[in-house]
Amino acid sequence: MSRNAKEVRPQDEQLANNPLYLARRERAEQDKPPSRGDSLGAVAATRAPGAKTRSEMLDQLLAEDGELIEGHFGTVFYRPVTVCGVELKLEPIQPVIGTVVHGIDLARDLENPEMVSFLRELWLKRHVVVFRNQNHLTREQMAEFAERFGAIGAPFGEREHVPNSPYDLNQQIKAPEVPEMLILPSDEAVPNAAASWHCDATWQPRPPMGSILMCREAPAVGGDTCFCNSHAMWEGLPKGTKERVRHLTAVHIGSVGHQMDGVTPEAVHPVARTHPETGRTSLYVQQGFVKHFSPEHGIPEDEAGALLRQMKLQEGRPEYTCRVKWEVGSIAMWDNRSVLHAASGDFWPQRRFMERLTILDRNESRRAPYYDPSAEGA
Ligand SMILES: [Fe+2]
Repeated sequence: MSRNAKEVRPQDEQLANNPLYLARRERAEQDKPPSRGDSLGAVAATRAPGAKTRSEMLDQLLAEDGELIEGHFGTVFYRPVTVCGVELKLEPIQPVIGTVVHGIDLARDLENPEMVSFLRELWLKRHVVVFRNQNHLTREQMAEFAERFGAIGAPFGEREHVPNSPYDLNQQIKAPEVPEMLILPSDEAVPNAAASWHCDATWQPRPPMGSILMCREAPAVGGDTCFCNSHAMWEGLPKGTKERVRHLTAVHIGSVGHQMDGVTPEAVHPVARTHPETGRTSLYVQQGFVKHFSPEHGIPEDEAGALLRQMKLQEGRPEYTCRVKWEVGSIAMWDNRSVLHAASGDFWPQRRFMERLTILDRNESRRAPYYDPSAEGA
């Protein structure tokens, strides 16, 4: 059965006439499977090994996914706590990272500043906080929620650098009611997921403190976002490596999609980073954007390569990591100063539609990453 990619309904009307979207859809119209250089394509090829064309692949994958039905079973452990008269259930996702907060309505229950303080403390302690069943929040209400924790950033954080790259589809559509919001569509014809480990916009001199992601459309299976605790990454480095890299800086380079006026952004940040609110040290090297140490350190190429490989081994270790399964109306709020994240690019041909806001520290002196060895354990 042949499928016509032209019939795929874009998730946002602005995509219908978008040249970048249309150019990418052309590949689907030629009945070519998604590129295997992209994890979405590699997973699809693994799931449907005999399929030669995109339509054959689609038929196999949609038939398999079509057998799924929705249900609930199993047991979760949670800690009950009452805050400002609201009965919450706190479900830890993994020992070192992630908590799902059940029983809250983010449009209604945050009027009391004590509730905001409670959630902020929880966020600092658990690094990723997840809320379910919030799809009733409008985009404006999402922005109101974000503003309780920090200043809303431009789509990539600081307003001094707003990319205008013609190569990034995510920047081609706007939320008119909240222009700071980044819209992240992914459909059958044009798949899209940020599938490598990174912190948001570290190629900026003052990257966003946190990010807030809302799921508006979710696949039944796949497309989870994984979060990795970067304090644990630092703790897990061999002692000798820690001492070698403790006072180094590294160069963070954006991708072509982050260009502004044709210039690829770069920023230099410390390898060991002090969390400005908790004083804890994290490994601030995410190999999505870091390609080398600062040249002035004069580290021989072989040694630099070995050090970067050692750090890379800390990214995404299961013990440091939690995985958030998205449902329509799930919101995750994470701390870019203490976690890395990666989307699981395994859900094609299912659709996924996300909305993201970044938040900046209201205390501007804490926005640029720094290392203060005396802060640890203070
Ligand atoms: Fe991201």
